[in-house]
Amino acid sequence: MITTTSPLPDTEDPFATPVTQEVEAMDLPVLGAIPPELAGRFFRNGPNARPGAPIGHPFMSDGMLHGLRLEGGRAQWYRNRWVRTRSFNGETSYLRPDGSIDLTAAVANTSVIAHAGRILALVESSFPYEVTSELETVGPHDFCGRLSTPFTAHPKRCPRTGELHAYGMSMNPPGLTYHRIAADGTLVESRRIDVPGVTMMHDIALTDKHVVFLDLPVVFDLALARTGTMPFRWSDEYGARLGVLRRDDPSADVRWFSIEPCYVFHVLNAYDDGETIVLDAVRYPELWRRHGLEFPPSTLHRWTIDLTAGTVAETTLDDRAVEFPLADPRRTGSAYRYGYAIQTDEHCRGVVTKYDVANGASWTYDFGAQTRTGEAVFVPAADDAMEDAGWLMSFVYDAARQASDFVILNASDLRHVATVALPQRVPYGFHGAWIADAAL
Ligand SMILES: [Fe+2]
Repeated sequence: MITTTSPLPDTEDPFATPVTQEVEAMDLPVLGAIPPELAGRFFRNGPNARPGAPIGHPFMSDGMLHGLRLEGGRAQWYRNRWVRTRSFNGETSYLRPDGSIDLTAAVANTSVIAHAGRILALVESSFPYEVTSELETVGPHDFCGRLSTPFTAHPKRCPRTGELHAYGMSMNPPGLTYHRIAADGTLVESRRIDVPGVTMMHDIALTDKHVVFLDLPVVFDLALARTGTMPFRWSDEYGARLGVLRRDDPSADVRWFSIEPCYVFHVLNAYDDGETIVLDAVRYPELWRRHGLEFPPSTLHRWTIDLTAGTVAETTLDDRAVEFPLADPRRTGSAYRYGYAIQTDEHCRGVVTKYDVANGASWTYDFGAQTRTGEAVFVPAADDAMEDAGWLMSFVYDAARQASDFVILNASDLRHVATVALPQRVPYGFHGAWIADAAL
């Protein structure tokens, strides 16, 4: 299935072209008014091959962080930095001569989070990489030697406990390993989970009572790995299943539930509803059957797992092509109403869609005909603010100017709040995070 509706840009698109320099600028011009209560940093990670490096699959390019510092209504600085991992510096390589894998070799290109006072750049194949609040690389972070597997780029933080639920998928045995990291940053639990094979497991779902694994049929291919290309392909044989782990009994067997084959990069949210689990995510009907750049339209979808009957019901929540779904992080794992995503239709203009998943309503904000937007990150207005009371932040590229802005929208009514003109183009990227000063 070939498509032009890809969340990834094509190589002719200037939005996809890596930037070649690390720059910084101070006191950036602002149109509108940055809410003065915002004190922190918006960091966003993404692939950005260094000059001279081959432009391969974007999932495998060097990671670069773009960061903006906000305080007192001002945009104090912008800077961008490659994550200088040991492999970036030429000190090591992912595949050692003896065939083993060096998990300190990383492109660290997918996401960035703050946890227990550390800022971590993540890619699912390797250890996290710690960076400073000014985007300088500190080094690989293995949780004081307790982490011995790759670490997902999408750990889920429980807003009740402050702990991170995560996992790693190893190319070699033991395959899938579940990890739990306490609010103080201690890795307190690692548990192997049996799965039929090694798949590209990109995200996880968390509810108040459960962790849900998505074991989907995009399967590791050793022959492809040996060629240095993206080593995963669609499998018609592997099947698709959701695995449910009880948080109150994490050593118990994982219950597996078959679903229609599909692929999911990103979960919007999940929650318990009596003896069912509701899981909302962006679903691809299939992925990478022939090559690793096939991205059919992906749509918001709901799986309802009936823990009593042992069945799963599926329904599509919206027919429009979207990606990068996010909800209010204070609602992670619990019943929620609002979600945010960006449209990825054939026009590829920058459009944010806001969903009311409780009643099926939706709204959009259109940045304009020649624009593209990255993931829109929801930032609560205050810890005790109502759901949806806050802002959406993203980097927006304007092809007419070949320039990028940082834009803040009001999430509740999708009105424009502020635009910060950036000193250079910010290319297509993956995931960002608002890191409030209070988190560091
Ligand atoms: Fe992702």
